[in-house]
Amino acid sequence: MKVIDCDVLVIGSGGAGARAAIAARELGADVLVIAKTLEGKAHTVMAEGGINAALAFRDPTDSWEEHFKDTVDEGVFLNNQAMAEVLVRDVIDCVHDLERYGSLFDRDSNGNIAQRPFGGQSHPRTCYVGDTTGHELIMTLVQEARRLGIRYMSDISVTALLPDARNSRRIAGAFGIDMKTGDYIQFIAKTVILATGGAGRVFKITSNPQEATGDGYAMALRIGASLQDMEQTQFHPTGMVFPPSAKGILVTEAVRGEGGYLLNTLKKRFMKDYNPRQMELSPRDQTARAIYMEIQAGRGTSNGGVYLDISHKDESVIIEKIPKMVKQFKMFANVDITKESMEVAPTAHHFMGGLRVDPIKCESFEVACLYACGEVAGGVHGANRLGGNALAETQVFGKLAGTAAGLQSRMLASPDPAPDAIEREIARLEAPFGIEGTKPQHIKTKIGEIMWKYAGIVRDEKLLLKGLEEIRALAKMPVAVSGSKRYNPEWHDSIDIQNMLMVSEAVIISALERKESRGAHYRSDHPKRDDASWLVNIIISHGGTGYAVDKTPVVITKLPPTKREGD
Ligand code: FUM
Repeated sequence: MKVIDCDVLVIGSGGAGARAAIAARELGADVLVIAKTLEGKAHTVMAEGGINAALAFRDPTDSWEEHFKDTVDEGVFLNNQAMAEVLVRDVIDCVHDLERYGSLFDRDSNGNIAQRPFGGQSHPRTCYVGDTTGHELIMTLVQEARRLGIRYMSDISVTALLPDARNSRRIAGAFGIDMKTGDYIQFIAKTVILATGGAGRVFKITSNPQEATGDGYAMALRIGASLQDMEQTQFHPTGMVFPPSAKGILVTEAVRGEGGYLLNTLKKRFMKDYNPRQMELSPRDQTARAIYMEIQAGRGTSNGGVYLDISHKDESVIIEKIPKMVKQFKMFANVDITKESMEVAPTAHHFMGGLRVDPIKCESFEVACLYACGEVAGGVHGANRLGGNALAETQVFGKLAGTAAGLQSRMLASPDPAPDAIEREIARLEAPFGIEGTKPQHIKTKIGEIMWKYAGIVRDEKLLLKGLEEIRALAKMPVAVSGSKRYNPEWHDSIDIQNMLMVSEAVIISALERKESRGAHYRSDHPKRDDASWLVNIIISHGGTGYAVDKTPVVITKLPPTKREGD
């Protein structure tokens, strides 16, 4: 077996992973970044419309304090406020870092970084590069990482985190498969940074790439780390609905930020009935639910969506501000958005929940030397993330995690991964060969259907219990893989589904536990927010045989809870 050593192992090559790698490398660490497919191919590119930073160029009355208030208010006070403060303060420097690395943000007429309005925000503070902001950022970050001599390995599926032989509560590396050859690789690392993104793929309709199968959550649970807020799954209000092959593809919030209207089939701007002040720029959870309600009430299109229209704006503005949307709709749906309406409906987009970590070091509370940043980490967004705060999170907490891991690895000798953990992992991975069973692809499809139907935008106890029963039944099914280990996507599906099943169960258990509605988690059997009982984070851990559920009071440092507009 190939053995590879490094100081800092970064698992995941999106915005958070790249930023963490840069920070650790700048401290002199030997850094290795692992990509599940291609370096930089990550959900980061689906943060199209921008990155929030209170630069106050467009509106001089903006400030980090205002950004903090918006983040916590729209997170419906479930946020760890210490993390939210770090986010909004540090993102300003992070945007300047990005410019230094070469990101070319759009400019206003004074030559400053242009800023646009985004949902749920009191000031226009979203900095952008047309509607391809995430793409621009990741390209620059990978280029900077390369310039610094950071090693990348692509097409590697990391399947397990390895504990240290002498201390099972300390990380010693990871175990993975070279997907091209099928060879196993043991990574020995003084510190490990998880930057594996979320698990949007557990839902049938999603904006997320194929790789978003919740690997980080599942691996962390297996090694003893805990997760929080897994019930808080964000549905972006606008994904494509037509043609079927394009279902779920993101239609950026920038369309609404640049003045797009949401209309039902009666041609009514229905957001007036849900949040008359914020209208199309209401927070995501409210907007997604409003679209869902309109469709349920029979005011949706025959393709199962509502209309999004920006054709009242000048063609030149549309082409300049949202060029990707122009191309995307022309190419997939043969719709000219400068003249015609788009059809849209909610799409699973982001997990607000994730690993419980220290707000500054980003280190797991339970497993020493394991760090997490980006979507895989929980806490900062609470119950509803602001559009534009995901890219901000990748940069701020990527930098902090990389710095902490880089510094920590200076003080440590190389660890020894526990050999029995490797033996157990190989047995787990190879179990589906040579047996009778269901094809992994079938299970993958079923997971998506179950989660969409029973744990989607509107939930209740009956639906969730049914979903749990079906997910558990799937988890018991023997899975069969044919062929060899060399370049075998079916084998990798069999590994992914184990992670997806674990994450799905964690989502449903947490959703069952939270008997109220807050942000993205809406229970029709408990439709009200209940601060008296539920200003708590739900914590999930896995003891090997099953889940343990716990609760801990929300970290409130500055802003006491108030009622949110539109709820
Ligand atoms: O709509 C968007 O462009 C997505 C941005 C985000 O999720 O932050």
